[in-house]
Amino acid sequence: MFTKLCDQNKVYKNLLGGEWVESESGKLIEIISPVDGSLIGRVQAMTQNEVDRAVENTKESLPLWAEMPVYERANILYRAADLLEEQCGEIAEILIMEISKDRKSAESEVLRTADFLRYTADIGKSMEGQAISGENFPGGSRSKMSYVTRVPLGTVLAISPFNYPVNLSVSKIAPALVGGNAVVLKPPTQGAVSALHLTQVLNQAGLPKGILNTVTGRGEEIGDYIVQHPGIQFINFTGSTRIGRHIAQIAGMVPMLLELGGKDAAIVLEDADLDFAADNIAAGAYSYSGQRCTAVKRILVLDAVADALVYKLKSRVEQLTVGDPREGAIITPLIDQKSADFVQSLVDEALEQGAEVVTGNRREGNLIYPTLLDRVTPEMDIAWEEPFGPVLPVIRVHSAEEALELANRSEYGLQSSVFTSDINRAFDLANKLEVGTVQINNKTERGPDHFPFLGVKSSGMGTQGVKYSIEAMTRPKAVVINLGRPGR
Ligand code: NAP
Ligand code: G3H
Repeated sequence: MFTKLCDQNKVYKNLLGGEWVESESGKLIEIISPVDGSLIGRVQAMTQNEVDRAVENTKESLPLWAEMPVYERANILYRAADLLEEQCGEIAEILIMEISKDRKSAESEVLRTADFLRYTADIGKSMEGQAISGENFPGGSRSKMSYVTRVPLGTVLAISPFNYPVNLSVSKIAPALVGGNAVVLKPPTQGAVSALHLTQVLNQAGLPKGILNTVTGRGEEIGDYIVQHPGIQFINFTGSTRIGRHIAQIAGMVPMLLELGGKDAAIVLEDADLDFAADNIAAGAYSYSGQRCTAVKRILVLDAVADALVYKLKSRVEQLTVGDPREGAIITPLIDQKSADFVQSLVDEALEQGAEVVTGNRREGNLIYPTLLDRVTPEMDIAWEEPFGPVLPVIRVHSAEEALELANRSEYGLQSSVFTSDINRAFDLANKLEVGTVQINNKTERGPDHFPFLGVKSSGMGTQGVKYSIEAMTRPKAVVINLGRPGR
C-alpha cells in the first residue's frame, strides 16, 4: 500500500478505497511524451481481480454516500474546484507533455473543469422531486399521489478519451457523484497521468473512501472485462465510434451514454460574412491540432464564394504557429505516429484523386503542419472520415440543398455550422440537419457545458451537459400514496 499518487521513479498508483495502490501484476505501462519522447510516468496495468476489487469496493461505501445530503456532496465538488484551480499550472504542464496540448488549451481545460465542478454542484443542489396527483388521468382521483424523487443508479463506469483526460473525466464523474453514485474511472492510457492527478484532487477534496476508484490499463486488455462487469450499473463513455459501438454490443442491459466521433461540417452560404466565417472555421478546425470531436472537419461552401473563402482561410492557416507546445505553438505533434500516418494517408489519397493543396501537407514525425485541401469531392475518403488531425477539406457545392444533402450523407451526426446573414435560411437548414447541435454563425464546439451535448447516428447515444448528465445517471423513484386506505 502507498499513500502517495506516485513515487520518485514516476510510478503512478491507482486510487482504491482511499489509498494509492500498486498492481499485483507488477506490470507497468510507460507513458511517453508525444512532444519529445521523454518519460511522463509509468502506470499500473491492472488485473481482472483488481478490477473486481475496484468495483466491489465501491459497494461498501455507496449506501452512506447515497444517503448523504446532496449539499454535502456538492461541498466536496466545490472544494475540488478550488484545489483544481490552485493546481492548474502543474496539471496543465502535465497535459502539455502527456497529450501534446498547447498551453492555452491545457490551462483552459483545467479551469473549465473547475467551472464544471462548481456548476454541477449548483445544479445538483437545485434538482427537486415531484408530487403528481392521480386526478389528472381519466378515472384517477386526488386520493392517489405519486411522490417522485431521483435516486442514484449505483456504480458508474467512466471511460474517458486521450484528448480531454481531465475535462471529459470530470464531465462524467461530477454529475455521477452529485447524483449519489460511486464511480470507477478507466482513464485513457495516454492521458492517464493527467487523469490520476485529477483523481488526486477529488480525493484531497474529501471524497469518502471507495466512492471514486481508478483502474488503469490498456483498453484492449481490460476494457471488455470491465464494461461487462456485473457490478457496473451505468457506462459513461467518450471515445471513438469503433470502440463505442463495440461496448454497446457487448455490455448487455446496462444503460449507457456514448459520446463518439464526428465529421462536423461548416456550411458557408453566399451571403455569409466571409472574414467572420474564416476566423471561426480556422479556430474550429485547427485548435489542439484538430484532435477534438467537435473540430470543423469539412467545409461545404457555395461555388460563388468558394475562391474568396479559401483565400481568406489560407492566410489564417499560414499564421498558425507550429511546433513545440512548451514554446506556445498552436499546432503540435499528434498523439502518436499511427494517428499521424492515418492523417497523412487521407491527404495522400485525396491528392492522388485530384484534390489540391492550398497550404500545408508537410510532416515531421508525428507533427503534421496545418493543411487546407481544396476541390475535395465526395469520392474521396477525406470527405467522410474523421482525420483527428490538422487537415481541413473544402468541398465546393452548387446550392444550399447540395450542402445539406452532403452534410446529412455522413455516418456521423455530432454538430454542423451554418454561416449566413439570413436567419430564415439558417433556421431552415438547422431544422433539416441530422445532428445533435447546429451552430448558427459560430464554429462547432461543445460548450458552454450546461448546454445539451449529443451526437446522433454514429456520433453517440444519450445526452450530456450538466443537468442532462445528472438525469442520465439517476432515475425516478416513485412512491404512490393512496389516501383513505388502511395504514393511514
Ligand atoms: P478510443 O481509442 O476509442 O479510446 C477511448 C477510451 O476507451 C480510452 O480510455 C481507451 O483506453 C478505452 N478503450 C479502448 N478499448 C476499450 C474497450 N474494449 N473497452 C473499454 N474501453 C476501451 O478514443 P481516443 O482515441 O481516446 O479518442 C478519440 C476519439 O474520441 C475520436 O473519435 C473523437 O471524435 C472521440 N471523442 C468524442 C467526443 C464526443 O464528445 N463526442 C469527445 C472526445 C473524443 P486506452 O487508452 O487504454 O486504449
Ligand atoms: O473532443 C471533444 C470535446 O468534447 C470537444 O470540446 O468543443 O470544447 O473542444 P470542445
